[in-house]
Order: sequence, then structure tokens, then C-alpha cells
Amino acid sequence: MGRHLLQVLLPAVISALLLWEGVQCNKNRYSLEITSPVIVQAGLRVNLPCKFTYDTSRDNPRAILYGYWYVDDKQIRKPRLVATSNLERIKEISPHVRDRFELSERKLNQGDCSLTIRDVKAADEGIYHFRMEKGRKRYSYSAAKERVSVIVTVEFLKERKPDLTVPELLRAGREASVTCRAPWSPSSGQPNITWTGISGGERSQLVTHDSVASHIDFTPTAADHLQNITCKATYFRAPKYVTTERTATLNVNYPPRNLHFSGHLIRPNGEVQYFTNISQIVPREGHSLVVSCEADSNPQSFVRWKLKFPGTRLHIYNNELRLSNVTLEDESKYECQASNVEGYAEKGVYIPIKHA
Ligand SMILES: *[C@@H]1O[C@H](CO)[C@@H](O)[C@H](O)[C@H]1NC(C)=O
Ligand SMILES: *[C@@H]1O[C@H](CO)[C@@H](O)[C@H](O)[C@H]1NC(C)=O
Ligand SMILES: *[C@@H]1O[C@H](CO)[C@@H](O)[C@H](O)[C@H]1NC(C)=O
Ligand SMILES: *[C@@H]1O[C@H](CO)[C@@H](O)[C@H](O)[C@H]1NC(C)=O
Repeated sequence: MGRHLLQVLLPAVISALLLWEGVQCNKNRYSLEITSPVIVQAGLRVNLPCKFTYDTSRDNPRAILYGYWYVDDKQIRKPRLVATSNLERIKEISPHVRDRFELSERKLNQGDCSLTIRDVKAADEGIYHFRMEKGRKRYSYSAAKERVSVIVTVEFLKERKPDLTVPELLRAGREASVTCRAPWSPSSGQPNITWTGISGGERSQLVTHDSVASHIDFTPTAADHLQNITCKATYFRAPKYVTTERTATLNVNYPPRNLHFSGHLIRPNGEVQYFTNISQIVPREGHSLVVSCEADSNPQSFVRWKLKFPGTRLHIYNNELRLSNVTLEDESKYECQASNVEGYAEKGVYIPIKHA
């Protein structure tokens, strides 16, 4: 009796064991590798490389392998098809999605489930998963690590740069302010604003319901002229930071400074000697001399020459001092005066003349 029972039970136990083992193996035979999350900027194209395996035991060679990509649709609360290699089901996908999502049918048989999205839209953000079908084998790869989360950085990288307000004209020594305003929303979180190209000053920050503004009161100097200042807004878009920035060039008015003499000397034989440092020049009688006076200023300075001692001659052409065929009487102190709307500066130069 006992022996009989065993004969009945044993095959059942064995087949149950086999079945259990089979399930285990099948489970292992279905696997998918993909990197998640993927962060992509709206308007660009993204390729999500993907590899999958499925149970090929008792494969039906006549069945066609189909692939499907779904996105979790929060509105309809179920996965929505976005790409497939099954032409019979392609009509389920709306045309504007169908045209942009592509699953390579050709590579599917090599275990490649890569998905390409062209012209990414903000609405493409979501969690995607893959499904295979071949004859009666059907499997959705929906484990957490098999899903891919696509994050679209649209408003912050492309359309919503911070606004940088800089006065069109700054004046050295006069206090001015610059403001950088970056938008935020509950979904973006508040950005941190940082500056480069500007140091010191008094900083303050104002947060409203939809923007963060960083304000700097500072006193520009001549050295700030043509400096680029950049304000960066950094948002935390899980799992990483996204930075967007705006740059402006400062235009600082300042009075003339660093007056400098340069020019050339012409010898009676026609030889020309150029100089950038007038202290290294000693003209002789009969030489001709051209000296220009340059000032560092913004806007450009108006330059005039004056004689320190009266009685000698002075020939001016534009901002150049021109002395042709100098004589001993030309030895004098000459003075350059430079001025612009911001101020005035002068510098004298003593020009000695040697006997021929
Ligand atoms: C400021 O930016 C402009 C444009 O990018 C660049 O040509 C210039 O060299 C920059 N100036 C400085 C001082 O870095
Ligand atoms: C902003 O700065 C604060 C303090 O340094 C930091 O805790 C926070 O994570 C930053 N936020 C962003 C979005 O960078
Ligand atoms: C010009 O030359 C003089 C005399 O050689 C020298 O002392 C002075 O430093 C020079 N100036 C400049 C700006 O090179
Ligand atoms: C230069 O000046 C001397 C003395 O006045 C004169 O004799 C000579 O002719 C002048 N040369 C020229 C080229 O003007």
C-alpha cells in the first residue's frame, strides 16, 4: 500500500521540482540591462542603449520576435506604447510620438533593445520599460532596475536662462548695482545663484514665489572695464545639478590715466627710429621728432600739448607733437593734457636737444 502511494506520488514530486527549477531558470533567462536615469536636454536626440535576453528554450523558429517600449502614463494610469517593431500595433501610437521614437527592429534578434528618441519634448519625461513577444512567449521587463527613467531638462537649460541686469554705463568710483534673477517653480526647486568676474560688493538675495534674485551693490573701477561677469543659476534636478548662466560685459567710464609717450625720430639722412619710451631718445640739431601722447581712458580722451616754458615753437597735428629740424631752442618741457567726460590728467616730458 505504502509502496503504491510512493509510486503515485514520486512522479508528481519530481515534476513539481522540475517545474520549480524551470521557473527559476526562465526567470534568469529574461534579463535586461539599461542605464538609468538618462538626462537629456529638450530638442536633442537621445539613444538609450539596451540589451536583453529571453528564454530561448523550446523556441518556435517560425514565430517573429517583437519588441515594445512603454512609458508609464500618469494620466491614463497604465503603460502607453511609444515604439514597437510590430507593424500591426504601430497604429496605437500617436503620430507625433511614432515619428520620434525608434526601436531598431533589425538588431532585436541580437538582443539589442536600444531606444532612440529624436527631438525630445518635455512631455517625454517618464519611466520607460521594454516588452518582448515571440509566439506564446511574452515578457515585460518591469523590475525597478530594468526600467529607465528619462529626465528632460527643458525649461532650465534652453528657455529659462537667468536675467542679468547691468547698467548700460557704469562710472568708476560711483556705486552701481547688478541683479541676476532666476525663475523657479515647485518642480524645479529654488536655484542657488553664484557670480564670477565680480568680487566684493554688498550682496543680497530676494526670493519671491517664482524667482530668486541676487543683487550686488559695488563700486566699479577702471580695471572692471570690459570685464565679463557671469551669473549662474544651479538647480538640483535629481539626481544631479543643472546649471544655466548668463554673461554680460561691463562698460565702465573712467578718467584718463597712465599717460604714455611714443613716436619716432627722423635723422637728416632719412633714417627713422621708432621709440615707445621717450626717455631713451636724445634728438640732435637737425633731427625731426614726432611724439604722440596716449592715455588709458574710457571713453577715449581728447589730448592737447602745452609748452611749459614760453618762447619756443609748438607744432601740433592731431594729438601728436611735431618738431621738424629741431634747434637748441626747442629743448623744453612739453606737457600733454588728456581729458574726457570723467576727468583730466596731465604729464610733462622734458626733451633735451644735443648739438649736431
Ligand atoms: C568677454 O567675452 C567676450 C565674448 O565671449 C570675449 O570675446 C572677451 O575676450 C571676454 N573678455 C574678457 C576680459 O575675458
Ligand atoms: C544651495 O546651497 C545650499 C547651501 O550651500 C545647499 O545646501 C543646497 O543644496 C544648494 N542647492 C542647490 C540647488 O544647489
Ligand atoms: C624708460 O626708460 C627709462 C630710462 O632708460 C627707464 O628708467 C624707464 O623705466 C623706462 N620706462 C618704461 C615704461 O619702460
Ligand atoms: C634746419 O635748420 C637749420 C638752422 O636753422 C637750417 O640751416 C637748415 O636749412 C634747416 N634744414 C631744413 C631741412 O629745414
